[in-house]
Amino acid sequence: MTTHLHITAWVIGIILFFVTYSMLKSGNPKAKMLHMITRLFYLLIFLTGGMLITDFGAYAVKMIVGIIVIAAMEMVLVRTKKRKSTSAMWILFIVALVFVVYLGLSLPQGLYFFK
Ligand code: HEM
Repeated sequence: MTTHLHITAWVIGIILFFVTYSMLKSGNPKAKMLHMITRLFYLLIFLTGGMLITDFGAYAVKMIVGIIVIAAMEMVLVRTKKRKSTSAMWILFIVALVFVVYLGLSLPQGLYFFK
């Protein structure tokens, strides 16, 4: 159940991240509001992820990489807003995202693809 909440939180969070990104790019004044909602989802991702932690030892890496994904999303948005280069943050986002999904699916709760 909580794994579904967690998946819902990060799927919506990532969609909002892309919407906010394209709004910032096109100078849409609503981008500010979307950015706030995206940040609310960072919190939801973190809280639902936190609810899944049963054993800190096994989950510490998952948690750190999850936080790196969120940090990379926020850095992409802030740097886009400031018209700074975002390539390094995009690479961090993609690499950390692939890694965190792999970790999530190799850990025992919910979907358990990579045993
Ligand atoms: C955007 C960031 C994140 C993504 C894309 C992500 C992705 C995933 C995925 C794919 C799963 C597996 C779900 C399942 O097996 O049904 C999962 C589970 C989990 N996530 Fe995240 N996660 C993110 C952030 C976080 C954060 C910040 C935390 C910690 C605070 C966290 C903690 C956990 C825990 C403890 C599990 C359960 C693992 C298990 O035993 O299966 N996640 N996550």
